Amino acid sequence: MNKQAQLYEGKAKKIFLTDDPDILIVSYKDSATAFNGEKKGSIKGKGEINNRMTNYLFRLLEKEGIPTHYIKELSGRETAVKRVEIVPLEVIIRNVAAGSFSKRLGIAEGTVLKEPTIEFSYKNDALGDPLINSSFARALGLASEEEIDTIKNYAFKINQILKRIFLAAGLKLIDFKIEFGRYHDKIILADEISPDTCRLWDVTTNEKLDKDRFRRDLGNVEEAYVEVFSRLGLNG
Ligand code: TMP
Repeated sequence: MNKQAQLYEGKAKKIFLTDDPDILIVSYKDSATAFNGEKKGSIKGKGEINNRMTNYLFRLLEKEGIPTHYIKELSGRETAVKRVEIVPLEVIIRNVAAGSFSKRLGIAEGTVLKEPTIEFSYKNDALGDPLINSSFARALGLASEEEIDTIKNYAFKINQILKRIFLAAGLKLIDFKIEFGRYHDKIILADEISPDTCRLWDVTTNEKLDKDRFRRDLGNVEEAYVEVFSRLGLNG
């Protein structure tokens, strides 16, 4: 499989075509944005951490029955993945109130929710990824009822698996965002799972070990990414 022309460049990754129409190469960047691209910066070493952490988690999820786009890690920053058609939904699971949920609903950050909750945003940068519900998603033709059911089932199952993995690493999974794609008409997990897309708090001190350190200018951003990576046993 040979890397060919760049297909797309996003805020955190570049995507390349290969000579196999079913395979793309993802290349993770160190650049970081927040607030729909308004805040820009760079987190040294993030590309490699997010690539290797995503691949590690996707391999574990596959073993637990979640189909993913992962094929093969090619280098520190690059991975071969199945070429999917991304379902234009950001799927967010929350275990503990934080971020936009706390703000919108007036609930203190850190409040444990009575059960995990799911929300959908319409992936559309021009609109700022607006919050929608599954009825909107069907009405707009973003996904079918069957696809939404599959996505919901996978998302809650992924939450159970990730909570267990992170807890074993001394981390509370507060919330996370995932994306799915269609691969030959089947829904599979795509994109990434990393400190960019999860809120992870130290289990005893509640110290934030994720991208909120960048979003909120809390300092020690690189250190937090390295800390998560090494707690998962991925350093070295
Ligand atoms: P929120 O509280 O800002 O809605 O974020 C919920 C979770 O989703 C949090 O873990 C961060 C992640 N997230 C992304 O991965 N990408 C985004 O663009 C946003 C807004 C949040």
